[in-house]
Amino acid sequence: MSKVIKGGTIVAADRSYEADILIEGDTIAAIGPGLKGDEVIDAEGAYVIPGGIDPHTHLQMPFMGTETAETWESGTFAAASGGTTMVVDFVIPGDEGMIAALDTWEERAARQASIDYGFHMAVTGWSQQIFQDMGTVVGRGVNTFKHFMAYKGALMVNDDEMHASFTRCAELGALPLVHAENGDLIASLQQKFMAEGNSGPEAHAYSRPPEVEGEATNRAIVIADAVGVPVYIVHTSSEEAHEAIRRARQKGIRVWGEPLVQHLLLDESEYANPNWDHAAQRVMSPPFRDKKHQDSLWAGLAAGSLHVVATDHCAFTTEQKRMGMGDFTKIPNGTGGLEDRLSLLWTYGVEKGRLTPNEFVAVTSTNIAQILNVYPRKGALIPGADADIVVWDPKAGKTIKAATQKSAIDYNVFEGFEVSATARYTLSRGALVWDSTSQSQPQPGRGAHVGRPTYQAVGRALSTWKELVAPRPVLRDPKMMPIGV
Ligand code: URP
Ligand code: ZN
Ligand code: ZN
Ligand code: ZN
Repeated sequence: MSKVIKGGTIVAADRSYEADILIEGDTIAAIGPGLKGDEVIDAEGAYVIPGGIDPHTHLQMPFMGTETAETWESGTFAAASGGTTMVVDFVIPGDEGMIAALDTWEERAARQASIDYGFHMAVTGWSQQIFQDMGTVVGRGVNTFKHFMAYKGALMVNDDEMHASFTRCAELGALPLVHAENGDLIASLQQKFMAEGNSGPEAHAYSRPPEVEGEATNRAIVIADAVGVPVYIVHTSSEEAHEAIRRARQKGIRVWGEPLVQHLLLDESEYANPNWDHAAQRVMSPPFRDKKHQDSLWAGLAAGSLHVVATDHCAFTTEQKRMGMGDFTKIPNGTGGLEDRLSLLWTYGVEKGRLTPNEFVAVTSTNIAQILNVYPRKGALIPGADADIVVWDPKAGKTIKAATQKSAIDYNVFEGFEVSATARYTLSRGALVWDSTSQSQPQPGRGAHVGRPTYQAVGRALSTWKELVAPRPVLRDPKMMPIGV
């Protein structure tokens, strides 16, 4: 049974135009005027965009003594309802090691996901075993490795470990990702604030000022450049971090930055809320910033020094957040946004003139598909691409409310935000996974793993250039050497 999406305006990263899309099986068969299919999907008055890709989620992740409450089933359905058709989730290995952890993540995702998915692997230390496992993991379609410069005593890696892992990434053709905050400094500041009786959720933000993010971002970039590997900075939240990325890019360094929709729209005044739960629900790392940082992040997206808008969806219930009553360092870090990312970015980006509709598509799917090496199978509307498509209705607004969300948690950090656009239909490889005109249900087991091949072009360019400009010994004529000493 073929399907045709009729009457909409296709919005791609490079242009907008009116055309129908014919879908046969999992993929796009044709794009053009007047197409016919067995089933018609109405896109009259709507835009037709590539399904969103959220490259930063933490579904059912063990963290800070608990596990995120968002399951693969609730999370991927929430994503689909908001126009996202692929998530890339972080595998965090504990004592079991990378391979067993990847097995666990794969099994959970395969059983529960409504949409397609991929994985990043966290490198949380350094050993011969990790060196070997990285090769195995790449063979299983994971081409990205995450490094935490924060969370001292838990996930944090030191500079030498990061250097070793980046070197291995370069060898494998994989891309290192970095959570860039100075973990040593944060640990000291946390102790200081607790000792001073500053134990509420606001002290979480006091202990992680923008400078610790800027410093670590610069350090990660310097290490990547020394190794000759590109690097991707996750959750870029401040002008200081953005500045480090901008400066490096102007020197020709391959670095990408990923602001979150939370940091674009929410600010540090949330932590001053007299309600402890309200403030704790918004504790994440990096914390929400002074409003001035938002201007920097929006500007970076428009100017091309920042590239992807993600969510770092890491959803804990209020009950879980209360583990940190009396000690802010024990509040599980993380906020949600998976379901609302596209609507928020459209309303507060496109509707406000911060982004064009094409830039919106670039930062919600196309850029990350290219960075993750799954383009144009994902992130593009062209014949042959996976039919991950959203019929995006710019006139179907709503008010964001925890009471009506698909996410499994009991609050929403965007509670009360008005959005002007929502997904009328979401298709995942040709199958309808969200229909706003009827009550859709999760389709656990429908989503599939999207394996990602290693990178060739960027790595080759960097190693060619490194070789050309490598420091070399000066070859001296023995006659020019001092004698008799
Ligand atoms: O607070 C956050 N961001 N929690 C999730 C883990 C991480 O650092 O990405
Ligand atoms: Zn992080
Ligand atoms: Zn401030
Ligand atoms: Zn994260």
